[in-house]
Amino acid sequence: MTRLAPPDLLALAAEANLAPSVHNTQPTRWRLEPGGDVTLIADESRRLKVGDPAGRDLRVSLGAALEATVIALSARGLTWQTAPLIDRAEASGSLREGATTDPLHTAIPNRFTWRRPFAPATSQQAQSLDGWAATRDDITLVDHDGLAAISEFNEHASLGFFRNASYRAELLSWMRLSASDPCFGRDGLSAPALGMSRLEALGAGVVLRDPWFGLLDRVGLAPSLISEHARTKTATAVLLFHRPDGENPAETGRALYRRLLEITTLGFSTWPMAVLADDPDTAAQLKRRHGIPDGHRLINAWRTGIVPQGAATPRRERLPAEALITA
Ligand SMILES: Cc1cc2nc3c(=O)[nH]c(=O)nc-3n(C[C@H](O)[C@H](O)[C@H](O)COP(=O)(O)O)c2cc1C
Repeated sequence: MTRLAPPDLLALAAEANLAPSVHNTQPTRWRLEPGGDVTLIADESRRLKVGDPAGRDLRVSLGAALEATVIALSARGLTWQTAPLIDRAEASGSLREGATTDPLHTAIPNRFTWRRPFAPATSQQAQSLDGWAATRDDITLVDHDGLAAISEFNEHASLGFFRNASYRAELLSWMRLSASDPCFGRDGLSAPALGMSRLEALGAGVVLRDPWFGLLDRVGLAPSLISEHARTKTATAVLLFHRPDGENPAETGRALYRRLLEITTLGFSTWPMAVLADDPDTAAQLKRRHGIPDGHRLINAWRTGIVPQGAATPRRERLPAEALITA
């Protein structure tokens, strides 16, 4: 059996924690077992109590971090001796030497969520995305012509969630709208990551709170305040990501991360619209309209496009590695 030294575990966790997590909650913790096994645990205290009551997104986030760990291990010549055993909110496995580096490893530092306008893709880039999507049975591509309709669904479903005061309060608790927030740059959704200027961030901090949101909604201003339409329509395509019904959410998270890294290697970035999957009526309509196979569940919908040349890429806002290790 191969054992990792504690400093190596620290470096491994920091790299694997670049995987996406819902609201950037970064719920995964890494533990070195006395016998040498590495265990990943989802920290339940970071579950979204309102947005994720069943802990599904928590476990999808754990799965993405698990896949990142497997890929990062491969670059160190290591592999799990047996497939990691995934329990409810935990995954564990022992290591052995002899892995070859997963080709997706180079994409780990280059993947990020892009919430600003996309630049137009060349026809060659668009074709490469089409070609790739056709080879994946858990991806359905909606091309540029279908964007307006998807955007409508997104605006409508988002408004429904924003009208829920508890959902908004929870979202606000993970928003880092000012650099003076002690968690700014560590976790959650910062104003720069959300594509907001300082002024927009200031405004969001007010209008998303009660009683302002309710008042603005009553006079018909809420839809335009939360609208993402202008940015959504700049995407090259929307990728509907769907997985078998009943799949372990951690397995879903592993596949989700691989798809996002594959998209990164094609030169594209993504901006999810989870509300399209989280609202059951919207998800059912999208499944019907876009022919998502029976037996598959819509997991997320990714606006996918090209980051404008010369644009500054978002900072990786992550917890320090020491905070990721648990005894
Ligand atoms: C299960 C899941 C759902 C997500 N849903 C959304 C979403 O609806 N909207 C959004 O802007 N980002 C969404 N994200 C992206 C996260 O907010 C993002 O991964 C996190 O902020 C870390 O930033 P990074 O992706 O740039 O590393 C989701 C991520 C996961 C894992």
